[in-house]
Amino acid sequence: MSYIILVSIILILVFSFVILFGAPYLPTLQKQAEDAFELLDLRTGDRLLELGSGDGRVLRLAAQRGIRGVGYELNPLLVIYSTIRHWRYRKLLTFKCRDYWRVRLPKCEGIYVFLLDRYMKKLDTKIIQEVGSPVKLVSYAFKVPDRVATKEKNGLFLYEY
Ligand SMILES: C[S@@+](CC[C@H](N)C(=O)[O-])C[C@H]1O[C@@H](n2cnc3c(N)ncnc32)[C@H](O)[C@@H]1O
Repeated sequence: MSYIILVSIILILVFSFVILFGAPYLPTLQKQAEDAFELLDLRTGDRLLELGSGDGRVLRLAAQRGIRGVGYELNPLLVIYSTIRHWRYRKLLTFKCRDYWRVRLPKCEGIYVFLLDRYMKKLDTKIIQEVGSPVKLVSYAFKVPDRVATKEKNGLFLYEY
């Protein structure tokens, strides 16, 4: 019994400490994840970054399209889960246990995020400073302030830098 309580406390702590650094874990729905790729319109061999990759479901769709993916995720349990769950796509996908605010973003063709409203301006600045153009950003649920979305679909916003 005490073992179950201990494991529960550890799980609660691991899943809640990320709130200090970004959005809590809440996965993108399957339909929206598929729509994100329609908006991103990436090609085989392109690279997609996901900031806060959760359980890796969005990057799995990337790999199924031949797109390379790098996921940055602060929750170590989600990184371990994603790595094991997507082992068959290991040549295309990498899951890194990192705080994406502390990573210098590499060159890529697309970025996918599901953050919180208060982080969107900071993200915009980070993309401009580190990735440059051209790159496409799809954000689920939250808009980038002072930037016009090229397209919108089912709560997803496409921005072209
Ligand atoms: C709203 S969830 C979205 C998960 C995934 N992108 C999806 O759409 O299914 C946000 C994710 O970002 C992770 N996260 C929050 N802040 C982070 C940070 N600073 N660096 C890396 N990951 C972070 C959380 O652990 C969580 O898994």
